[in-house]
Formats: sequence, structure tokens, C-alpha cells
Amino acid sequence: MSTPLTSPLLHPLPIGTLIVPGRLYKSATSETRATDDGYVTDELLEFYQPMVRAGTPLIVTGNLYVSLQSKSAGRQAGIDDDDKKTGLREWVDLAHSGGSLLIAQLNHGGRQMVKSADPGRTPVSASSVREPLYGTKPRPLRRDEIPALVKTFADAAARAREVGFDGVQIHAAHGYLLGQFLTPHTNRRDDEYGGCLDNRMRLLREVYHAIRARVGDDYPVLLKLNGTDMLPLRRGATTAEFIRVAKVMEGEGIDAVEISRAHYESWPGMILGHYKGFTRGQITEGSGASMTRLRRTAMLAAAPVVERVAERLAPGSEGFNLPQAEQFTARLDIPVICVGGFHTREGMESAISSGRCDAVSAARAMIADPYLFKNVQDPLPDHPVCEYRNGCIARFGGKAIDCYVEPIRIRKDRMVGRMEQA
Ligand SMILES: Cc1cc2nc3c(=O)[nH]c(=O)nc-3n(C[C@H](O)[C@H](O)[C@H](O)COP(=O)(O)O)c2cc1C
Repeated sequence: MSTPLTSPLLHPLPIGTLIVPGRLYKSATSETRATDDGYVTDELLEFYQPMVRAGTPLIVTGNLYVSLQSKSAGRQAGIDDDDKKTGLREWVDLAHSGGSLLIAQLNHGGRQMVKSADPGRTPVSASSVREPLYGTKPRPLRRDEIPALVKTFADAAARAREVGFDGVQIHAAHGYLLGQFLTPHTNRRDDEYGGCLDNRMRLLREVYHAIRARVGDDYPVLLKLNGTDMLPLRRGATTAEFIRVAKVMEGEGIDAVEISRAHYESWPGMILGHYKGFTRGQITEGSGASMTRLRRTAMLAAAPVVERVAERLAPGSEGFNLPQAEQFTARLDIPVICVGGFHTREGMESAISSGRCDAVSAARAMIADPYLFKNVQDPLPDHPVCEYRNGCIARFGGKAIDCYVEPIRIRKDRMVGRMEQA
């Protein structure tokens, strides 16, 4: 059955100066398909090609590192240097060849650094709070280091504009550096960057203003933010605080906000769904090489219980961030994009028609089915459907991004092959 033209998925959405021709987007996914030193490769472009062919209206890149210090995984793509511009321009040209808008996600990993990023480097953070998943102990950023760090974001945004990206997204979700400053658990500073919320959001505001000064008022600048930190028994920022951050940023000129959840340490965090076999995938093919042998052994031993508990406590459901996203929508005038579990036309349409958000985005469902935008409207025969078994994220930091649930990946490869020949 094809989508009637009245479907909200086909309604244009203004985001700043852009008119986005639809309301289902690709959310950021760290690809680990670049060269070891962060240059765009054919392998990376291949990942995006079918999404572009499917007519996906707006695509957000995986998080791009804005400086070597900010790199958080091996084979992550970078936007830290002018010599990367040729490859980045190819990426933009690919997206534009199919009419997709391409947004560069700018990030500093802070303490969330998979060691394959650079084994010799001590990560920085707001404070020296150890990251428990990988065991990395960051050092606090010195006050005098902050202006140079802010400038790396602004330089990266200027580069994004120069090569033709349609906008940038500042990544302040998922417990990366800007999130580490927002969250009291990871921000124990007693200077003007710590303590009250106004102080904790100071770095984000400085980054935003530095970017705006470089790219101009007409260039779309989006923000990705947690709706909940998912840090029970620790001092996570509250939903009310995140809404205040969004409100302040709206007042200062942010063009849209995408709502997600969690830090690495709130595992299973942002990827609600199924976890059976997750730990083994992570240890043997993912970021396990970054962990000590003791940590790997302990994680494997605990996996059967941990995975069962996670499955019970954090089951996935379509639109699992909607309860928070709708609170942002109620208080903001700029578009609110909700990510989390979206994979059916009904689920996406109802989230938008009910006014709980203005647009939806998908990560895992797009990895499993890069033709998702087409398939929710006018399904191709035998198209793959994501089952949220999290094989993709388990391999993060080890293998190139893909669907690692064999029967689904076979369907995906077949579908992509058929469409290439069509
Ligand atoms: C393999 C993988 C890599 C991801 N990398 C990023 C990233 O680079 N930046 C980001 O903001 N979110 C990243 N995410 C999170 C997604 O954008 C999204 O917020 C989350 O997966 C929930 O959406 P979903 O249920 O549609 O997968 C990643 C998710 C996956 C599965």
C-alpha cells in the first residue's frame, strides 16, 4: 500500500532556512568506515548510497571529530582539518545527487573514548570521573584550554559550510563531552563551568555562539540533546533541566532539537531493545579490544544475568523517547525531532499527527533497511525489518557499521543489490 499524499511523513518541515521535504530522517550513526586517520572512504559512501537513493529527506552523519583530542573511536570520520575537505565534499555531493540534505554532526568524545581512537591519549572531561564501561579515567579540562576547544567546533562548522553540508548538529547527547558538562554526575567543577545549570550549559552556549559567528545567521545549526540521562542513583540532569537548556538554546538561535537519551554508563542506555549475545559481540568483535582482560572476563561472566535484566528493565518500543520529546514539543517553537525505535509507518505517522514531535529519525532501522523512507511508504518485496537485536552497536568500535543479524543482513544485501540494478 503506498502512502497517501496527506501522510505527515511527506509534509515539508522548515528547519531554519531549510525546507526539509519530509519528516523521517536518518539519525547519526558512528560509521567506523573512515580511514584510521579519519578520511572519507568509498566504504563509508557505500553505506549512505542506498539511503540517498531511497529519497531520505535529511541525513545526519555519524559523529565527526572536531579535533584529534575529540576523536572517540577508531576509523571514525573527522572534520578537524582542511585536508579532509575533498572526501567530505564527495559525501555531500552523494547526498545531493538524490536530493537528500546532509547535516554534519560535530562532536567531542570527552571521557567516552574507545581506546582504538588513540591508545596513548588521556581523555579530557568536565571532571575526573571514571567512565565505567571502558574504565577510562579522564583529566579535567583546564579553564585556559576551553577557548581553543570551542574554536575547534567553530572551525569544523565553517569547514562543513564550505564543503556544502546543509547544516551542522551539535552533539550534546549520549554523555559525550558537552553532555558531560551538562550532567552533575560527570561535572563536579567549582568554577563558572560547574555547579548550577547556567554554569553547566556555559560550554554548550560558547560552542554554539562560536559556531554561529563563523557560519552566519542563515546556516542551520541543530542540537542533539538527551531527554533523560538514565543515571539512576547518580546525579543525572533531569528532563526539566534539559528542557531549560533547549529553551535557552532556542532563544539564542538553535534551529531544531533532536531528543535521545543516556550516557555510555547508563547501559543499555540509548539503544533499548534486545541484548541477548550483545556482550559477546562487543567483546569479540566490537570495542572489547579497548578493555582490560579482567574487564572483558568479568563482563562475559556477568553477561547472562545483565542481559536478562536489561531486557526486562529496558524493553524497546516504537518511539521510546516520545514521553520526553513531547514535553520539549509543548514548550518549544522550533522543530523537535524524536529518535528511538521508529520503524513502522503507523508509529511514525502517529507520533507526528498527534503533535508529540514534528519529525522522527531512525538509526538502527536505517542500518537494517537503508530504503526505510521508501519502504514505509511503498514497500519493496521482501525488505528487511530491524528487530532491535543491537548487533550493530555491539560491533561499534571494532567493525564497520552494518546490520549483524545474519538473516536481516542477507535480505538487506539482496534488496540493495536489486535496487542498484533497477
Ligand atoms: C551503531 C550505532 C552508532 C551510533 N552512533 C551515533 C553517533 O555517532 N551520534 C549520535 O548522536 N548517535 C549515535 N547513535 C545513536 C542513534 O543516533 C540513536 O539516537 C539511537 O540508536 C536510538 O535510535 P534507534 O532506536 O532508531 O536506533 C548510534 C546508534 C547506533 C546503533
